[in-house]
Amino acid sequence: MIKYTSEIAKATDPLFEKVKNVIPSVEWPTMAPLVHRINELKAEKNAVVLAHNYQTPDIYHCVADFVGDSRQLAIQAQKTEADIIVQAGVHFMAETSKLLSPDKTVLIPSLDAGCSLAASITGQDVRQLKKKYPGVPVVTYVNTSADVKAESDICCTSANAIAVVEALGADRVILLPDEYLSKNVAAQTEVEIIAWQGRCEVHERFTAEELRDYRESSPGVSILAHPECSPEVLEEADFAGSTSALIRYVNVNRPQKVMMVTECSMSDNVSAEIGEEVEFIRPCNLCPHMKTISLQNIVESLELIRHEVTIPEEIAARGRQAVKRMVDLEVEGKGFEKRSNQRDVIVEDRASVSSLGTLSH
Ligand code: 13P
Ligand code: SF4
Repeated sequence: MIKYTSEIAKATDPLFEKVKNVIPSVEWPTMAPLVHRINELKAEKNAVVLAHNYQTPDIYHCVADFVGDSRQLAIQAQKTEADIIVQAGVHFMAETSKLLSPDKTVLIPSLDAGCSLAASITGQDVRQLKKKYPGVPVVTYVNTSADVKAESDICCTSANAIAVVEALGADRVILLPDEYLSKNVAAQTEVEIIAWQGRCEVHERFTAEELRDYRESSPGVSILAHPECSPEVLEEADFAGSTSALIRYVNVNRPQKVMMVTECSMSDNVSAEIGEEVEFIRPCNLCPHMKTISLQNIVESLELIRHEVTIPEEIAARGRQAVKRMVDLEVEGKGFEKRSNQRDVIVEDRASVSSLGTLSH
C-alpha cells in the first residue's frame, strides 16, 4: 500500500479541490496515493485513461484524460496518440476502442465489467434475425460484443441512434439489442423498427410512477432520463438523451432542482463541477459493472499491463467497419423530443428466431 505522504498531498491537493463537494475529506488520504500513482504511470507508459460518465468522481475528475459518453469515448480512442488506452468503463467500450485503435494496447482493469445489454445477444442471434428479415439493415447499439458488431451494417449510440437509423434511407431497420431504446427511437421516426428483447438492468428499474411521485414531492424539478429507460419513463421526463446530453442540459440550463434518471455517479460528477447552484434529487441506480472499476485496479492494470483486450482479426475487421461507419457519419443531434408518438415495434428474442434453423456464414 502506498502511504499518503506530504509530497503526495501537495501533488494531489489541486485534484481534491475538484471533488471536495462529493468526496469526504476523510476518504481522500486513501485515494490520493492511488491517484498519484496512476498519474505517474500514465506519464511513464504513455497511457491515457478514457472514462465513461458513470465512473466515480475519483476516477472521472482525478485520473481520466478524457471523459464522455460511448460515442465521445470511441472518437477519442481513434484520435489518441498514446500507446496504451485504459478503459475506465465496461468491456464493450474497451472492445470498441480496440476496434478503432487496433495497434494500441487496450486495457480493461476489471474482467467483471460486463453489461446486461451486451450479454443479451450473440452473433448467432443476429445471423438468425438476418435470416428472418433478409435485406433489412442491422443497426447495432455499441453496447454489444465485437461478435455482434461484426454481424451489423452500422453501430449507433444513444447520442446518434435516431440519426443513424434515418441516415440509412430504409423503410425498415433492425435496431439491436435494447428493446426500450428501440421503442424510444421508433417514437421519433417514420422508419419501422424491429427490436430485440434486451434490457439495461440499471435503467429498466425506473418507473413512471416513481417519477410522478418525485414531481409531487419536489415541485419544479427538471427530470432528465436516459433513453435506455422505458417509453413510459421518457414520457414523464422533461428531457432525454445520452449521458453527455444530460450533462450538457444541466450545464446549459442550470435548473434549480434536477433529477438524473440514470446511473448514480452522473449526479456526483456534475455536482462536483457546478457546486451548490443546482440541487440534485438523487433516486439513482448503480451499474454494478461500471462499479467494478476502481483506482486500485487501474493501478494494477497499468503496472502489470493487465487484462489486455484482444479480438480475433476476422471478427475485428467486420466489427471495425460497423463502428467506423458510425463515426464517419459524424451525426449526433436529433434528440428524443418530448412527444407521445408510441408506435408498434416487433420485439424478437432468441426463441422467436431460433426456430428458423442454424445459418452458417
Ligand atoms: P451513453 O452512450 O449515453 O454514455 O450510454 C452508455 C450506457 O451504457 C448507458 O447505460
Ligand atoms: Fe450496460 Fe446498463 Fe451498465 Fe450501461 S448502465 S453499462 S447499459 S448495464
